[in-house]
Amino acid sequence: MAFVLWNNGESRAYPPERHGGTIIFSSEARPGPRGASVRNGPYLLTEGTLSTLSPDAHSTSERKKITILALRQMKARGERISMLTAYDYPTAQAVDQAGLEVILVGDSLGMVVLGYENTLPVTMDEMLHHCRAVRRGAHAALLVGDMPFLSYQVSDEEALRNAGRFLQEAGMDAVKLEGGGKRSETIQRIVAAGIPVMGHLGLTPQSVHQLGGFRPQARTAAAARRLVEDARLLEQVGCFSLVLESVPRQLAALITRQLSIPTLGIGAGAECDGQVLVVHDLLGLFERFTPRFAKQYAGLHAEMQRAFGEYLAEVREGTFPGPEHAIDMADDEWAALQDLLRE
Ligand code: KIV
Repeated sequence: MAFVLWNNGESRAYPPERHGGTIIFSSEARPGPRGASVRNGPYLLTEGTLSTLSPDAHSTSERKKITILALRQMKARGERISMLTAYDYPTAQAVDQAGLEVILVGDSLGMVVLGYENTLPVTMDEMLHHCRAVRRGAHAALLVGDMPFLSYQVSDEEALRNAGRFLQEAGMDAVKLEGGGKRSETIQRIVAAGIPVMGHLGLTPQSVHQLGGFRPQARTAAAARRLVEDARLLEQVGCFSLVLESVPRQLAALITRQLSIPTLGIGAGAECDGQVLVVHDLLGLFERFTPRFAKQYAGLHAEMQRAFGEYLAEVREGTFPGPEHAIDMADDEWAALQDLLRE
């Protein structure tokens, strides 16, 4: 058994993959944020020794915690902000270690993880459960919990209490909620209690039935003007940032220029202050559909199918587990067992 030092500083016993007597752990270098070279653990070791971190590794433990102030400063400096969703511990670790600034535990988890038709059935308990897992995996990224349907629409009191649960019970740093003018008083109330709120305008999936489906929004001048007014209002009532989903790129660019808070676009063009994607879309893990605006950076569903198929074949053939995966009993113990069984 070798020990592996991961780039979050944790060491873990890890069964080595042997290739002709050499213990191999991949440690592919790749460009990190703003040109820094990032190596994802585990690192190459010799058996029984601990590795040291690559000197250029951009480890999470070195990264300062991202705050809402840091995001505002990034906008002022013209630096783009990256946000991805995550719903579990390993994904949160990978996103955090890659150096992204924000992790959103989106209610999209209802569709991409829990298999619901849309986000409407997602409950507070489901959100908090996944937020806790993400919290355990991420240390530097700003963590935003998405308030699910009916957790903030019924009354301001309920909205405040539910927003507070994301921070108090699940370790989130902020909450996100959907909607414009109709939500302004609720947002004001939550912000007044010291809870940072991210707004969300354009295609707001919790209103899918009212919108007539998952379709682009604000494509007419009148609707675009309403969206600009909503965006200004959300800034006024204290949102620290704003998601713009599936709106024309010219409109998103205009709103981005007008607001002092950062905009995060999804299907809103490249001129927002930052971008957000659903991690399952980016990884090619959600097969039901991929929105036109999502780019697949990997094909993990196909890769999972390949791996599962290989495992299935090897189990059926009896080639897995091999001797390297089995536990040996010492000869003397084995002989002793034979004696015991004969007694
Ligand atoms: O729930 C979610 O993942 C979201 C993003 C698409 C912004 O709201």
